[in-house]
Amino acid sequence: MSKDLIKPHGGKLINRLADESKRTELLQKSKEFKSLELSERSLADLECIATGVYSPLTGFVSEADYKEIVDNMRLSNGLAWSIPITLQVSQEEAKNYNLGDEITLTTAGKALAIMTISDKYQPDQNHEANQVYKTSDHAHPGVAAMLAAGAVYLAGPITVIADFPKKQFPNYNLSPEQSRAEFEKRDWQTVVAFQTRNPIHRAHEYLTKVALESLDGLFINPLIGATKKGDIPADVRMQCYEVLMENYYPQDKVALGTYPAAMRYAGPREAILHAISRQNYGCSHFIVGRDHAGVGDYYGTYDAQEIFDNYNDEELAINLHKFEHCFYCNKCDSVASFKTCPHSAEDRVFLSGTKVREMLENGEMLPTKFSRPEVAKILIKAYAEGID
Ligand code: ADX
Repeated sequence: MSKDLIKPHGGKLINRLADESKRTELLQKSKEFKSLELSERSLADLECIATGVYSPLTGFVSEADYKEIVDNMRLSNGLAWSIPITLQVSQEEAKNYNLGDEITLTTAGKALAIMTISDKYQPDQNHEANQVYKTSDHAHPGVAAMLAAGAVYLAGPITVIADFPKKQFPNYNLSPEQSRAEFEKRDWQTVVAFQTRNPIHRAHEYLTKVALESLDGLFINPLIGATKKGDIPADVRMQCYEVLMENYYPQDKVALGTYPAAMRYAGPREAILHAISRQNYGCSHFIVGRDHAGVGDYYGTYDAQEIFDNYNDEELAINLHKFEHCFYCNKCDSVASFKTCPHSAEDRVFLSGTKVREMLENGEMLPTKFSRPEVAKILIKAYAEGID
C-alpha cells in the first residue's frame, strides 16, 4: 500500500478544468460573453489555479482575500497566503466589465476559460508594493510588472474550457495530480522540492543532495514562467537540468517537473508562495537557501527563511529545509556552507554572477568546483548563440 503524501494546502486539490463532456457546450456559450485577453503572467496564474498548484484558490482573489493577503499574509479563512493572485486591467479596459458578468478569458484570441466577475476593485498599489515587495521602487522587476498589469483588479472563480496552449516542455509538464501520482508510484512519502530559476551549479546540487539524504525523493521544480532580462532562459536551463540529472543524480530518487508561474522577485513573500505550490505538488519539504527569490539587495540574506516563523502548522504544513550560503571550499575540499566550513574567505570559491557571465560569454569553462562541465558547456553554447 502506498504511503500518504502531504495533504494539499487547505486539504483538497483544486481542479477547475471543465469535464471534456461539457466543453463543447461551454465553448459555445462563451462566444456570447465579453472577452479578456490574458497576459503571459495571468495565463501562467490561470494554469496554476486551474490545476491546483495554487490550491485552495479557485479563481483570481477577491477584494477581501486581497486585503488579508497584503496586510496579514493570510486568506480570509486564516490559511497562509503571501502574494495576491490577481487579474488586472487598465482603468479604460475596466469600463467593459461589470460585477456579475460572465467573461471569456482568451489566449492568442482563443477562448481558454470563463470567469464570473465577483469583485472589481482598485486597490492602493503603492501599499501592495511596500507590503508584498518591501519596496515601492519602480525599478524592482516585480513591482514594475504589478504596476504595468493595470490599476483595476477583476476577481472571481474560473473554469478552464479548452486545452492550454502547447507546452514548451511537454515531457516535464506535471500537474499536482500527476506529480502526486508519480511520487506514489515511486513509493515516496517525504519529498523535498527545489525551486530554481538558475542553472544548477555545485552549490545548488549540494543543497538538493544534502536534503535528499534524509528523505525519500527530490523534486527539481524549475520555474519556467516569465523572468527578468539577464536571467538564463528556461529552454537553456532545462538542458542543464537534464544533463545534470542524467550524470549526477540517482534516477530513482529524483524527478523533474516544471513550475509554470512567473517570477515575482518578491523574496520572502515569494518563498511562501513557492512553498505552498510545492506542498500542492505533494512535497513535504521545501529548500530555502540564501536570498530565495531575491533580486538586487532588496532583501536580507535569510529573510526568506525567517518569514516562515509567522505561521503555525495549521496555517502552513510544508516543512522548510533551510540552508546557509554554500560554496566550494578548497581546504574542506568539498562544497560546504557558512554553517559547516571553518575556513576563511580566501579558501572559498566565490564567483559573482557578472564574472560567471563574462567567462561564459568568452567561451571559458567555469571551474569544476563551481559548475559541472556538462552544464558549463551548454551555457557556453547558449551564450555563443546569443542570450539577451
Ligand atoms: S531563486 O530565485 O529560485 O531563489 P536560485 O535558482 O538561484 O534563485 O535559487 C534556488 C534556491 O537555491 C533558493 O532557495 C536559494 O536560496 C538557494 N541558493 C542558491 N544559491 C545558493 C547558495 N550559494 N547557497 C545557499 N543557497 C543557495
